[in-house]
Amino acid sequence: MSGSEFSLDDIDLDTFWMPYTGNREFKRNPRLITGAKGCHYHTADGRTVLDGLSGMWCCGAGHGRKEIAEAVARQALELDYAPAFQYGHPAAFKLASRIKEFMPEGLDHVFLVNSGSEACDTSLKIARAYWRQKDQPSKTRLIGRAKGYHGVNFGGISVGGIGMNRKLFGTTLETDHLPHTLLPENRFSRGMPDQGAELADELEELVALHDASNIAAVIVEPFAGSAGVIVPPKGYLQRLRAICDKHDILLIFDEVITGFGRCGTNTGAHYFGVTPDIANFAKQLSNGVIPLGAVVVRGDIYQTFMDTGGPDYMVEFPHGYTYSGHPMACAAGLAALELFEKERLAEQVAEKAEYFEDCIHGLSNHPHVLDVRNLGFAGALTLEAHPGEPARRPFEVAMWCWQHGLYVRYSGDTLLLGPPFVMGKPDLAEIFNILGDGLRAA
Ligand SMILES: Cc1ncc(COP(=O)(O)O)c(C=O)c1O
Repeated sequence: MSGSEFSLDDIDLDTFWMPYTGNREFKRNPRLITGAKGCHYHTADGRTVLDGLSGMWCCGAGHGRKEIAEAVARQALELDYAPAFQYGHPAAFKLASRIKEFMPEGLDHVFLVNSGSEACDTSLKIARAYWRQKDQPSKTRLIGRAKGYHGVNFGGISVGGIGMNRKLFGTTLETDHLPHTLLPENRFSRGMPDQGAELADELEELVALHDASNIAAVIVEPFAGSAGVIVPPKGYLQRLRAICDKHDILLIFDEVITGFGRCGTNTGAHYFGVTPDIANFAKQLSNGVIPLGAVVVRGDIYQTFMDTGGPDYMVEFPHGYTYSGHPMACAAGLAALELFEKERLAEQVAEKAEYFEDCIHGLSNHPHVLDVRNLGFAGALTLEAHPGEPARRPFEVAMWCWQHGLYVRYSGDTLLLGPPFVMGKPDLAEIFNILGDGLRAA
Protein backbone atom coordinates (compact mmCIF):
# COMPACT_ATOMS: atom_id res chain seq x y z
CA MET A 1 0.00 0.00 0.00
CA SER A 2 1.48 3.35 -0.86
CA GLY A 3 1.37 6.28 1.55
CA SER A 4 -1.07 8.20 -0.62
CA GLU A 5 -3.80 5.57 -0.13
CA PHE A 6 -3.64 5.88 3.62
CA SER A 7 -5.26 8.28 6.04
CA LEU A 8 -4.25 8.70 9.66
CA ASP A 9 -7.95 9.14 10.45
CA ASP A 10 -8.32 5.37 9.89
CA ILE A 11 -6.19 4.61 12.92
CA ASP A 12 -6.83 4.77 16.66
CA LEU A 13 -3.36 5.57 17.95
CA ASP A 14 -4.21 5.34 21.61
CA THR A 15 -5.08 1.69 22.20
CA PHE A 16 -1.87 0.04 21.03
CA TRP A 17 0.77 0.17 23.80
CA MET A 18 3.82 0.33 21.57
CA PRO A 19 6.89 -1.71 22.53
CA TYR A 20 10.07 0.04 23.57
CA THR A 21 8.72 3.37 22.37
CA GLY A 22 8.10 6.79 23.81
CA ASN A 23 4.35 6.32 23.31
CA ARG A 24 3.44 9.89 24.24
CA GLU A 25 5.89 11.44 21.76
CA PHE A 26 5.06 8.98 18.99
CA LYS A 27 1.34 9.49 19.28
CA ARG A 28 1.83 13.25 19.00
CA ASN A 29 4.13 12.80 16.02
CA PRO A 30 3.33 9.42 14.41
CA ARG A 31 5.81 7.88 12.01
CA LEU A 32 3.86 5.18 10.21
CA ILE A 33 5.48 2.86 7.70
CA THR A 34 3.10 1.41 5.16
CA GLY A 35 5.33 -0.44 2.71
CA ALA A 36 8.84 -1.60 1.97
CA LYS A 37 10.80 -2.63 -1.10
CA GLY A 38 14.51 -3.27 -1.48
CA CYS A 39 16.37 -0.81 0.75
CA HIS A 40 13.51 1.65 1.19
CA TYR A 41 10.46 2.15 3.34
CA HIS A 42 7.30 3.93 2.23
CA THR A 43 5.59 6.12 4.77
CA ALA A 44 1.97 6.95 5.48
CA ASP A 45 2.59 10.53 4.38
CA GLY A 46 3.64 9.33 0.94
CA ARG A 47 7.42 9.52 1.25
CA THR A 48 10.24 7.08 0.47
CA VAL A 49 12.82 6.64 3.23
CA LEU A 50 16.18 4.86 3.07
CA ASP A 51 16.43 1.97 5.52
CA GLY A 52 19.64 2.63 7.45
CA LEU A 53 19.21 -0.23 9.93
CA SER A 54 17.82 -3.18 7.92
CA GLY A 55 14.56 -2.74 9.84
CA MET A 56 16.06 -3.55 13.22
CA TRP A 57 19.17 -5.41 11.98
CA CYS A 58 17.02 -8.11 10.42
CA CYS A 59 16.37 -7.44 6.72
CA GLY A 60 19.85 -7.77 5.20
CA ALA A 61 18.55 -9.28 1.96
CA GLY A 62 16.36 -6.21 1.47
CA HIS A 63 12.59 -5.88 1.81
CA GLY A 64 9.82 -7.51 -0.15
CA ARG A 65 11.79 -10.60 -1.18
CA LYS A 66 9.38 -12.67 -3.24
CA GLU A 67 11.31 -15.90 -2.64
CA ILE A 68 10.63 -15.71 1.09
CA ALA A 69 7.05 -14.44 0.81
CA GLU A 70 6.12 -17.22 -1.61
CA ALA A 71 7.74 -19.91 0.55
CA VAL A 72 5.73 -18.69 3.54
CA ALA A 73 2.50 -18.59 1.54
CA ARG A 74 3.07 -22.12 0.21
CA GLN A 75 3.78 -23.40 3.71
CA ALA A 76 0.71 -21.70 5.17
CA LEU A 77 -1.52 -23.52 2.70
CA GLU A 78 0.25 -26.87 3.04
CA LEU A 79 0.69 -27.01 6.83
CA ASP A 80 -0.21 -23.93 8.83
CA TYR A 81 0.63 -25.27 12.26
CA ALA A 82 1.84 -28.54 13.70
CA PRO A 83 2.23 -29.28 17.42
CA ALA A 84 5.74 -28.41 18.47
CA PHE A 85 6.00 -30.89 21.37
CA GLN A 86 6.22 -34.66 20.83
CA TYR A 87 5.31 -34.32 17.13
CA GLY A 88 7.29 -32.80 14.30
CA HIS A 89 7.16 -31.57 10.73
CA PRO A 90 9.83 -31.77 8.03
CA ALA A 91 10.64 -28.06 7.69
CA ALA A 92 11.92 -27.77 11.28
CA PHE A 93 14.40 -30.63 10.74
CA LYS A 94 15.44 -29.19 7.39
CA LEU A 95 15.98 -25.75 8.89
CA ALA A 96 18.07 -27.09 11.78
CA SER A 97 20.32 -28.94 9.34
CA ARG A 98 20.56 -25.89 7.11
CA ILE A 99 21.53 -23.62 10.03
CA LYS A 100 24.23 -26.11 11.02
CA GLU A 101 25.83 -25.71 7.57
CA PHE A 102 26.63 -22.07 8.39
CA MET A 103 28.07 -22.75 11.84
CA PRO A 104 31.68 -23.05 12.90
CA GLU A 105 32.91 -26.61 13.43
CA GLY A 106 31.47 -28.20 16.57
CA LEU A 107 28.26 -26.19 16.88
CA ASP A 108 25.91 -28.79 15.54
CA HIS A 109 22.58 -29.06 17.37
CA VAL A 110 19.85 -26.48 16.94
CA PHE A 111 16.98 -25.47 19.24
CA LEU A 112 14.40 -23.27 17.50
CA VAL A 113 12.74 -20.26 19.16
CA ASN A 114 10.90 -17.14 18.02
CA SER A 115 13.08 -14.20 19.01
CA GLY A 116 16.41 -13.05 20.30
CA SER A 117 15.04 -12.74 23.84
CA GLU A 118 13.81 -16.31 23.76
CA ALA A 119 17.13 -17.46 22.33
CA CYS A 120 18.93 -15.77 25.20
CA ASP A 121 16.81 -17.21 27.99
CA THR A 122 16.90 -20.62 26.31
CA SER A 123 20.70 -20.56 26.16
CA LEU A 124 20.94 -19.60 29.85
CA LYS A 125 18.60 -22.45 30.80
CA ILE A 126 20.59 -24.90 28.71
CA ALA A 127 23.78 -23.78 30.46
CA ARG A 128 22.38 -24.17 33.96
CA ALA A 129 20.66 -27.46 33.22
CA TYR A 130 23.79 -28.82 31.55
CA TRP A 131 25.83 -28.51 34.74
CA ARG A 132 23.08 -30.16 36.76
CA GLN A 133 23.04 -33.05 34.35
CA LYS A 134 26.84 -33.22 34.73
CA ASP A 135 26.42 -33.53 38.51
CA GLN A 136 27.75 -30.03 39.17
CA PRO A 137 24.51 -28.38 40.37
CA SER A 138 26.27 -25.51 42.13
CA LYS A 139 27.34 -24.08 38.76
CA THR A 140 24.44 -21.65 38.45
CA ARG A 141 25.84 -18.12 38.27
CA LEU A 142 25.67 -16.37 34.89
CA ILE A 143 28.16 -13.70 33.90
CA GLY A 144 27.18 -10.96 31.45
CA ARG A 145 28.93 -7.75 30.52
CA ALA A 146 28.23 -4.08 31.16
CA LYS A 147 26.46 -2.53 28.14
CA GLY A 148 25.43 -6.02 26.95
CA TYR A 149 21.97 -6.52 25.47
CA HIS A 150 20.34 -9.92 25.52
CA GLY A 151 16.72 -9.05 25.00
CA VAL A 152 14.02 -8.21 27.48
CA ASN A 153 13.04 -11.42 29.26
CA PHE A 154 14.10 -11.94 32.85
CA GLY A 155 17.20 -13.97 32.01
CA GLY A 156 18.23 -11.50 29.35
CA ILE A 157 17.86 -8.43 31.55
CA SER A 158 19.64 -10.18 34.42
CA VAL A 159 22.78 -10.79 32.35
CA GLY A 160 22.21 -7.62 30.32
CA GLY A 161 24.24 -4.56 31.13
CA ILE A 162 22.05 -1.62 30.12
CA GLY A 163 20.76 -0.02 33.30
CA MET A 164 17.63 1.47 31.76
CA ASN A 165 16.43 -2.01 30.74
CA ARG A 166 16.81 -3.35 34.28
CA LYS A 167 15.89 -0.63 36.71
CA LEU A 168 12.09 -0.97 36.64
CA PHE A 169 11.94 -4.73 36.89
CA GLY A 170 14.28 -6.22 39.46
CA THR A 171 16.57 -9.02 38.42
CA THR A 172 16.27 -12.35 40.08
CA LEU A 173 19.05 -14.56 38.75
CA GLU A 174 22.49 -14.89 40.32
CA THR A 175 24.62 -12.89 37.93
CA ASP A 176 27.70 -10.74 37.74
CA HIS A 177 29.13 -8.60 34.98
CA LEU A 178 32.39 -8.09 33.18
CA PRO A 179 33.32 -4.49 32.43
CA HIS A 180 32.47 -3.18 28.99
CA THR A 181 35.23 -2.51 26.48
CA LEU A 182 34.35 1.03 25.45
CA LEU A 183 37.66 2.77 26.22
CA PRO A 184 38.34 6.47 25.62
CA GLU A 185 41.74 5.66 24.10
CA ASN A 186 39.99 3.65 21.39
CA ARG A 187 37.78 6.48 20.14
CA PHE A 188 37.45 6.61 16.34
CA SER A 189 38.94 3.13 15.92
CA ARG A 190 38.28 1.53 12.57
CA GLY A 191 37.06 -2.02 13.19
CA MET A 192 38.67 -3.76 16.14
CA PRO A 193 40.40 -1.39 18.55
CA ASP A 194 43.98 -1.99 19.67
CA GLN A 195 43.63 -1.38 23.41
CA GLY A 196 41.87 -3.42 26.04
CA ALA A 197 42.30 -7.18 25.48
CA GLU A 198 43.28 -7.40 29.15
CA LEU A 199 39.72 -6.45 30.14
CA ALA A 200 38.89 -10.12 29.53
CA ASP A 201 41.12 -10.96 32.50
CA GLU A 202 38.46 -9.42 34.73
CA LEU A 203 36.80 -12.81 34.39
CA GLU A 204 39.61 -14.19 36.57
CA GLU A 205 38.57 -11.68 39.24
CA LEU A 206 34.96 -12.87 39.04
CA VAL A 207 36.14 -16.48 39.29
CA ALA A 208 38.19 -15.55 42.37
CA LEU A 209 35.10 -13.90 43.87
CA HIS A 210 32.47 -16.53 43.13
CA ASP A 211 34.59 -19.63 42.39
CA ALA A 212 34.29 -21.48 39.12
CA SER A 213 32.36 -24.24 40.89
CA ASN A 214 29.48 -21.73 41.11
CA ILE A 215 29.63 -20.27 37.58
CA ALA A 216 27.65 -21.81 34.71
CA ALA A 217 28.39 -19.54 31.78
CA VAL A 218 29.60 -16.25 30.41
CA ILE A 219 27.40 -14.58 27.81
CA VAL A 220 28.59 -11.77 25.53
CA GLU A 221 27.72 -10.37 22.15
CA PRO A 222 30.74 -10.78 19.85
CA PHE A 223 30.34 -7.05 19.31
CA ALA A 224 27.80 -5.24 21.46
CA GLY A 225 25.13 -4.02 19.05
CA SER A 226 22.34 -2.22 20.87
CA ALA A 227 24.65 -0.27 23.19
CA GLY A 228 26.34 1.21 20.12
CA VAL A 229 28.47 -1.21 18.10
CA ILE A 230 31.16 -1.73 20.73
CA VAL A 231 33.72 -3.83 18.90
CA PRO A 232 35.94 -6.08 21.05
CA PRO A 233 39.61 -5.13 21.33
CA LYS A 234 42.01 -7.31 19.36
CA GLY A 235 42.62 -10.55 21.29
CA TYR A 236 39.85 -9.93 23.84
CA LEU A 237 37.51 -12.76 22.81
CA GLN A 238 40.43 -15.20 22.56
CA ARG A 239 41.34 -14.40 26.16
CA LEU A 240 37.76 -14.81 27.30
CA ARG A 241 37.63 -18.19 25.57
CA ALA A 242 40.88 -19.31 27.22
CA ILE A 243 39.72 -18.32 30.72
CA CYS A 244 36.37 -20.08 30.22
CA ASP A 245 38.24 -23.22 29.13
CA LYS A 246 40.62 -23.04 32.06
CA HIS A 247 37.75 -22.92 34.58
CA ASP A 248 35.18 -25.11 32.84
CA ILE A 249 32.75 -22.25 32.23
CA LEU A 250 30.52 -22.31 29.16
CA LEU A 251 30.95 -19.43 26.71
CA ILE A 252 27.73 -18.22 25.05
CA PHE A 253 27.86 -15.82 22.12
CA ASP A 254 24.72 -13.80 21.59
CA GLU A 255 24.89 -13.50 17.81
CA VAL A 256 21.41 -12.06 17.36
CA ILE A 257 22.93 -9.10 15.50
CA THR A 258 26.34 -10.46 14.51
CA GLY A 259 25.04 -13.72 13.01
CA PHE A 260 24.31 -14.34 9.34
CA GLY A 261 26.23 -11.68 7.52
CA ARG A 262 26.47 -8.49 9.55
CA CYS A 263 30.22 -8.96 10.13
CA GLY A 264 30.86 -10.02 6.53
CA THR A 265 31.03 -13.68 7.59
CA ASN A 266 28.46 -16.35 8.45
CA THR A 267 28.81 -15.59 12.17
CA GLY A 268 30.72 -13.33 14.53
CA ALA A 269 32.50 -16.47 15.71
CA HIS A 270 33.95 -16.85 12.20
CA TYR A 271 34.90 -13.19 12.02
CA PHE A 272 36.68 -13.09 15.37
CA GLY A 273 38.08 -16.62 15.12
CA VAL A 274 36.62 -17.76 18.44
CA THR A 275 34.06 -20.56 18.75
CA PRO A 276 31.65 -20.44 21.69
CA ASP A 277 29.96 -23.46 23.27
CA ILE A 278 26.50 -22.05 22.58
CA ALA A 279 25.44 -19.39 20.05
CA ASN A 280 22.15 -17.48 19.83
CA PHE A 281 20.66 -16.23 16.59
CA ALA A 282 17.46 -14.45 15.49
CA LYS A 283 16.94 -11.28 13.42
CA GLN A 284 18.64 -12.07 10.07
CA LEU A 285 17.69 -15.75 10.21
CA SER A 286 14.36 -15.19 8.44
CA ASN A 287 15.29 -11.81 6.96
CA GLY A 288 12.77 -10.41 9.43
CA VAL A 289 9.78 -11.84 7.57
CA ILE A 290 8.51 -14.17 10.33
CA PRO A 291 9.75 -14.18 13.95
CA LEU A 292 12.45 -16.84 14.25
CA GLY A 293 15.46 -17.53 16.43
CA ALA A 294 17.81 -20.40 17.15
CA VAL A 295 20.18 -21.60 19.84
CA VAL A 296 23.00 -23.73 18.49
CA VAL A 297 25.00 -25.91 20.87
CA ARG A 298 28.04 -28.12 20.86
CA GLY A 299 27.28 -31.77 20.14
CA ASP A 300 28.39 -33.01 23.55
CA ILE A 301 26.07 -30.55 25.32
CA TYR A 302 23.13 -32.01 23.40
CA GLN A 303 24.43 -35.53 24.08
CA THR A 304 24.67 -34.87 27.83
CA PHE A 305 20.92 -34.24 27.89
CA MET A 306 20.26 -37.37 25.82
CA ASP A 307 22.42 -39.49 28.14
CA THR A 308 20.90 -38.25 31.38
CA GLY A 309 17.28 -37.81 30.38
CA GLY A 310 15.89 -41.01 31.94
CA PRO A 311 13.59 -43.37 29.99
CA ASP A 312 13.45 -42.37 26.33
CA TYR A 313 9.80 -41.32 26.43
CA MET A 314 10.74 -38.65 28.98
CA VAL A 315 11.46 -35.06 27.97
CA GLU A 316 15.21 -34.43 28.30
CA PHE A 317 14.99 -30.63 28.39
CA PRO A 318 11.64 -29.36 29.68
CA HIS A 319 11.69 -26.17 27.68
CA GLY A 320 10.17 -24.98 24.40
CA TYR A 321 7.51 -22.69 23.00
CA THR A 322 4.18 -23.39 21.30
CA TYR A 323 5.69 -21.71 18.25
CA SER A 324 9.19 -23.26 18.41
CA GLY A 325 9.90 -24.28 14.83
CA HIS A 326 6.62 -22.87 13.53
CA PRO A 327 6.14 -24.18 9.98
CA MET A 328 5.92 -20.68 8.46
CA ALA A 329 8.97 -19.45 10.36
CA CYS A 330 10.87 -22.50 9.14
CA ALA A 331 9.77 -21.87 5.56
CA ALA A 332 10.89 -18.25 5.88
CA GLY A 333 14.19 -19.33 7.43
CA LEU A 334 14.90 -21.88 4.72
CA ALA A 335 14.13 -19.40 1.95
CA ALA A 336 16.17 -16.65 3.65
CA LEU A 337 19.18 -18.93 4.06
CA GLU A 338 18.87 -19.92 0.41
CA LEU A 339 19.10 -16.24 -0.52
CA PHE A 340 21.92 -15.71 1.96
CA GLU A 341 23.94 -18.38 0.18
CA LYS A 342 22.90 -17.74 -3.41
CA GLU A 343 23.40 -13.98 -3.26
CA ARG A 344 26.61 -14.29 -1.22
CA LEU A 345 25.23 -11.83 1.29
CA ALA A 346 28.08 -12.20 3.79
CA GLU A 347 30.63 -11.72 1.02
CA GLN A 348 28.71 -8.68 -0.22
CA VAL A 349 29.14 -7.13 3.21
CA ALA A 350 32.85 -8.03 3.31
CA GLU A 351 33.34 -6.43 -0.12
CA LYS A 352 31.58 -3.18 0.82
CA ALA A 353 32.67 -2.95 4.48
CA GLU A 354 35.66 -0.73 3.76
CA TYR A 355 33.48 1.71 1.84
CA PHE A 356 30.99 1.77 4.72
CA GLU A 357 33.88 2.33 7.13
CA ASP A 358 35.22 5.26 5.09
CA CYS A 359 31.75 6.79 4.89
CA ILE A 360 30.99 6.56 8.59
CA HIS A 361 34.42 7.83 9.63
CA GLY A 362 33.87 10.69 7.20
CA LEU A 363 31.46 12.03 9.84
CA SER A 364 34.14 12.14 12.56
CA ASN A 365 34.60 15.90 12.31
CA HIS A 366 30.93 16.74 12.18
CA PRO A 367 29.36 18.72 15.02
CA HIS A 368 28.63 16.82 18.25
CA VAL A 369 30.40 13.58 17.17
CA LEU A 370 32.42 12.21 20.10
CA ASP A 371 33.19 8.76 18.71
CA VAL A 372 32.68 6.61 15.61
CA ARG A 373 32.80 2.80 15.67
CA ASN A 374 32.24 0.24 12.94
CA LEU A 375 32.56 -3.36 11.88
CA GLY A 376 31.21 -5.03 8.74
CA PHE A 377 27.87 -3.38 8.00
CA ALA A 378 27.39 -2.04 11.53
CA GLY A 379 28.33 1.36 12.83
CA ALA A 380 27.56 3.87 15.55
CA LEU A 381 28.17 7.51 16.40
CA THR A 382 28.34 8.69 20.00
CA LEU A 383 26.99 12.21 20.22
CA GLU A 384 27.75 14.94 22.68
CA ALA A 385 24.87 15.26 25.12
CA HIS A 386 22.72 18.27 25.77
CA PRO A 387 23.49 19.10 29.42
CA GLY A 388 21.70 16.53 31.60
CA GLU A 389 19.92 14.89 28.64
CA PRO A 390 22.21 12.23 27.10
CA ALA A 391 19.52 10.68 24.90
CA ARG A 392 18.03 13.84 23.41
CA ARG A 393 20.49 14.75 20.67
CA PRO A 394 20.52 11.30 18.98
CA PHE A 395 16.72 11.40 19.08
CA GLU A 396 16.68 14.85 17.48
CA VAL A 397 19.13 13.85 14.75
CA ALA A 398 17.21 10.64 14.02
CA MET A 399 13.95 12.59 13.75
CA TRP A 400 15.56 15.13 11.41
CA CYS A 401 16.85 12.26 9.26
CA TRP A 402 13.42 10.63 9.19
CA GLN A 403 11.93 13.86 7.88
CA HIS A 404 14.67 14.06 5.25
CA GLY A 405 14.47 10.51 3.89
CA LEU A 406 16.58 8.32 6.19
CA TYR A 407 15.62 5.90 8.93
CA VAL A 408 18.29 5.42 11.63
CA ARG A 409 17.83 4.35 15.22
CA TYR A 410 18.91 6.13 18.36
CA SER A 411 19.83 4.37 21.57
CA GLY A 412 21.09 6.23 24.63
CA ASP A 413 23.77 8.65 23.44
CA THR A 414 24.34 6.86 20.12
CA LEU A 415 22.98 6.64 16.60
CA LEU A 416 23.01 3.14 15.13
CA LEU A 417 23.55 2.19 11.50
CA GLY A 418 23.23 -1.25 9.93
CA PRO A 419 22.19 -1.04 6.28
CA PRO A 420 20.84 -3.99 4.31
CA PHE A 421 23.63 -6.15 2.92
CA VAL A 422 22.33 -5.60 -0.61
CA MET A 423 22.56 -1.81 -0.41
CA GLY A 424 24.69 -0.36 -3.21
CA LYS A 425 27.32 2.34 -2.81
CA PRO A 426 25.10 5.22 -4.05
CA ASP A 427 22.48 4.51 -1.38
CA LEU A 428 25.19 4.02 1.24
CA ALA A 429 26.64 7.41 0.29
CA GLU A 430 23.18 8.95 0.52
CA ILE A 431 22.77 7.65 4.10
CA PHE A 432 25.85 9.57 5.15
CA ASN A 433 24.92 12.70 3.18
CA ILE A 434 21.59 12.90 4.99
CA LEU A 435 23.13 12.02 8.34
CA GLY A 436 25.87 14.62 7.88
CA ASP A 437 23.24 17.28 7.17
CA GLY A 438 21.28 16.09 10.19
CA LEU A 439 24.29 16.47 12.47
CA ARG A 440 24.88 19.97 11.17
CA ALA A 441 21.21 20.84 11.62
CA ALA A 442 21.02 19.47 15.19
C1 LIG B 1 22.30 -9.21 20.92
C2 LIG B 1 20.82 -9.25 21.07
N1 LIG B 1 20.26 -10.22 21.79
C3 LIG B 1 18.94 -10.32 21.94
C4 LIG B 1 18.10 -9.41 21.36
C5 LIG B 1 16.62 -9.51 21.55
O1 LIG B 1 15.99 -9.90 20.39
P1 LIG B 1 14.40 -9.78 20.26
O2 LIG B 1 14.08 -8.33 20.24
O3 LIG B 1 14.12 -10.51 18.97
O4 LIG B 1 13.81 -10.48 21.43
C6 LIG B 1 18.63 -8.38 20.58
C7 LIG B 1 17.76 -7.38 19.95
O5 LIG B 1 18.19 -6.33 19.51
C8 LIG B 1 20.03 -8.29 20.44
O6 LIG B 1 20.59 -7.30 19.74
